[in-house]
Amino acid sequence: MNASRVLAASGIQPEIAVGAIPDDERVWVPQAKDVWFRPLLLNTVSGGWCNLLRVRKSGVLSRHRHPMVVVGYVIKGRWKYVEHAWTAEEGSFVYEPPGEIHTLTVPADCPEMITFFNIGGAMIYLDDADRTIGYEDVWTKIDMCRRHYSEVGLGADFVERFVR
Ligand SMILES: [Fe+2]
Repeated sequence: MNASRVLAASGIQPEIAVGAIPDDERVWVPQAKDVWFRPLLLNTVSGGWCNLLRVRKSGVLSRHRHPMVVVGYVIKGRWKYVEHAWTAEEGSFVYEPPGEIHTLTVPADCPEMITFFNIGGAMIYLDDADRTIGYEDVWTKIDMCRRHYSEVGLGADFVERFVR
């Protein structure tokens, strides 16, 4: 039995090695006004996902809480959380502890930001009184991708390449 057949027999999932910023604009999935994500890994085993987040103009990622760790790396542009004084600049690494609540905004003079995020568990959207008004997890992300890729002609199954 050769090495690849040994791996297949053991149940190990195939690796992913891709250009993170896609050539095809359709790979970006719209999330909110002026906000898109590009899935890189949709992790159905431990629950979570890796993606690029792209925000243009003064787009806002609504107030939310992370029950698990999030780490990020700013590839382009800059952004800040309304709840914190610091700004994440191009080249910045960001760690968000479990329990962190924040609202991501991009300064008006920054035309576009792109950041890699590794998100564990879920994003729980909150109103100003900290009441839950929605959530995202790996399964809702997969659903969003399926719908979008179907609509833009890539086919709903296009998302499968990111699912592990
Ligand atoms: Fe967040």
